[in-house]
Amino acid sequence: MLIDSISKLINQQINREFFSAYLYLDMSAKAENAGFKGMAAWFMAKYQEENQHAMKMIRYLLDHGAQVELASIENPSSDYSDPLDMFEQTLIHEQSVTASILNLVDAAMSSKDHATYIFLQWFVTEQTEEEATVGDIIAQLKLVGGRGEGLFMLDKELGSVAATVMQPALAGTV
Ligand code: FEO
Repeated sequence: MLIDSISKLINQQINREFFSAYLYLDMSAKAENAGFKGMAAWFMAKYQEENQHAMKMIRYLLDHGAQVELASIENPSSDYSDPLDMFEQTLIHEQSVTASILNLVDAAMSSKDHATYIFLQWFVTEQTEEEATVGDIIAQLKLVGGRGEGLFMLDKELGSVAATVMQPALAGTV
């Protein structure tokens, strides 16, 4: 049994996770349009991950007999000047998701909702890993100066990372 304020916050977070998925799907398409197939695969893998995050939260609500309230997903469309811009926007976005997860953790703590507090620990760890990974990619992009052979190699590397985590159906599109 979840109190209403907690299930409302989890429903809001589900929307943020689906928005994240939608944002990365858009970035994947834009990366591929710009000729960066490895980055496109990496963002497609992110799209899958974010959907899984939303599904984990939906499962949690259902397991507690709470209502799942799916709201509209915001339009993610925006333009990116280059891969560095895309990854910097990704980091800013993930930092905002972290803040919102931590807000949920605070709410669970103050409501003495131990089950939700424990459930959220996985997301706190996941956000730390995601921010670190994106930070590393940004550092590498700055190192290669955004062009030439270095960028080509980095694109290839991100493609291989994505291939290890992506579902076969989507990997086939890259
Ligand atoms: Fe599921 Fe990275 O937010």
